[in-house]
Amino acid sequence: MVTNRLILRPWRESDAGTLYKYAKDPEIGPAAGWPPHTSIEDSLDVIRTVFSAPETYAVVLKETGEPIGSIGLLFGESSHVAGILPDEAEIGYWIGKPYWGQGLIPEAVRCLLLRCFTDLGISAVWGAYYDGNTKSRRVLDKCGFLFHHTVDGMTSPLGDVRTEHFMKINSF
Ligand SMILES: CC(C)(COP(=O)(O)OP(=O)(O)OC[C@H]1O[C@@H](n2cnc3c(N)ncnc32)[C@H](O)[C@@H]1OP(=O)(O)O)[C@@H](O)C(=O)NCCC(=O)NCCS
Repeated sequence: MVTNRLILRPWRESDAGTLYKYAKDPEIGPAAGWPPHTSIEDSLDVIRTVFSAPETYAVVLKETGEPIGSIGLLFGESSHVAGILPDEAEIGYWIGKPYWGQGLIPEAVRCLLLRCFTDLGISAVWGAYYDGNTKSRRVLDKCGFLFHHTVDGMTSPLGDVRTEHFMKINSF
């Protein structure tokens, strides 16, 4: 998929070095609930496992050809939205810190939403963010998601207990 400034394409094993460069940053993963990558081998393992799931894409900057972030959909049991329906998805994303604040993830989210609603037959997309992650909340706001509910006492994949907010956008 192609947008103004981005290409969204599947992750490749050859992306491991670049992925490690951005995903080792402690300001990225923990905000989303995953640990910073510890080595290029760790990043390669993530590409082979987590990033090989359907509808998971490297966010590649057209200008440089470099994968600078990731965006993807989770369905059913893989999602952590309680009661998610079979025709719904949860969206997740991150982008390397040098690229924050340029509206690149909103551009990628809009592209994937279009795919959800026109090609995949999805009726609603959820976006979840941990309390205090204003940056992620702003992405969801700007892309038209509406606040749905809050869950206290969620144990994150890192083992700490957090409050999580859930937002939703229905098929347009
Ligand atoms: C959340 C994230 C994906 C946003 O991507 P992005 O492409 O920078 O999105 P935007 O450019 O629209 O910026 C979103 C908000 O981030 C904040 N922001 C922008 N640049 C920033 C910077 N350099 N430092 C801190 N915050 C910044 C602003 O509040 C901005 O909102 P605004 O447009 O109302 O000013 C990115 O910050 C990120 O990867 N964070 C770490 C991982 C994460 O939290 N993922 C989401 C898990 S739910």
